[in-house]
Amino acid sequence: MVVNCDAEVQSAKCIEQSAKKNAMHHARSNSEERMKQELEKVEQEALEALKAVSDLAEGKALKTQYLGRKGAVTAFLRKISSLPPEKRAETGRLANEVKKRLEEAFEKTLQAFESDQGETAGDALDVTLTGRPIARGRLHPITQITQAICEIFQRLGFEIVEGPDVELDYYNFEALNIPRDHPARDMQDTFYVSDNIVLRTHTSPIQVRVMEKQSPPVRIIAPGKAYRVDSDISHTPMFHQVEGLMVQEDISLGDLKGILTTFVHQIFDEETSLRFRPSFFPFTEPSAEVDIRCVICRGKGCRVCSHTGWLEVLGAGMVHPAVFEMVGYDTDRYTGFAFGMGVERIAMLKFGIEDIRKFYENDLRFLEQF
Ligand code: DAH
Repeated sequence: MVVNCDAEVQSAKCIEQSAKKNAMHHARSNSEERMKQELEKVEQEALEALKAVSDLAEGKALKTQYLGRKGAVTAFLRKISSLPPEKRAETGRLANEVKKRLEEAFEKTLQAFESDQGETAGDALDVTLTGRPIARGRLHPITQITQAICEIFQRLGFEIVEGPDVELDYYNFEALNIPRDHPARDMQDTFYVSDNIVLRTHTSPIQVRVMEKQSPPVRIIAPGKAYRVDSDISHTPMFHQVEGLMVQEDISLGDLKGILTTFVHQIFDEETSLRFRPSFFPFTEPSAEVDIRCVICRGKGCRVCSHTGWLEVLGAGMVHPAVFEMVGYDTDRYTGFAFGMGVERIAMLKFGIEDIRKFYENDLRFLEQF
């Protein structure tokens, strides 16, 4: 019994003791748990607050608040010493991890603010600076002049027509009364694509293409590119021409003169007189080169007109009957005139440019002047 009793007493004591122990253990593990939760809360709070920070000073203050000597995380690390020794290591490790994570997060945010400041410190927003202009496109001077030429002829009742740049030998030469192996071909240094295909050397083939399809009356203007093996201060391998053609009954050289005089007066001015100089083109008879009074010196003589007082601006003439025959026009009934002018030449005179190559160098300082 005694033993039993003792044993009972023993066991009661034991129970009591172990209950106490348990309670203590419980209390300890409770406080460990609480600390972990507290730690999590501190981390969450710090990260939330960091997100709301709007400048470097605010960020630095917040960092001190959490990671400084008297900061929340530091205070927490100190408290770890109150934990039972066997729990310190685990909680300490967690706390140090949180500390490291927060340090990294602060570092990142502060650095971002610092580099922002660096950028604006040197060249802070200067509201007195003039604005940056928005670059606007414009039409190339050659396009502008081509359009101006076409508009004048449109007002005179001419219709605009276009044709292919890569042209058959037939339209570029043969149908214009320039047979194969004829010396007249030497007038134009041709880019041959093949035996029968060329890059058109002028816009005159468009005349033929139109007349093939349409019977008189015809009144057309044909702008476009032309190509010749030639390059110097007044020639580029690609250049622009405007071709004109008017065919109906009773068209005379007088009509040609009238139309061209009106054109010259409108593209230059009313004071600009013109003269017809006899010339030769295989597709016209008679043919003429048309000169205008020098628009620079007004006829006194200057470098631009080689001291002649005149400038050559276009070729023209009465359409050769051989050309009409090629397209099946009745040569007894119809007559017509044709002319062709270089757009660059007109543009150079209007804008006072001495080197044709400037148009195609794509130098914006040049192009933006027009
Ligand atoms: N096609 C000629 C040339 O490029 C210019 C020309 C002259 C066209 C007389 C014509 C014309 O229509 O009748 O040099």
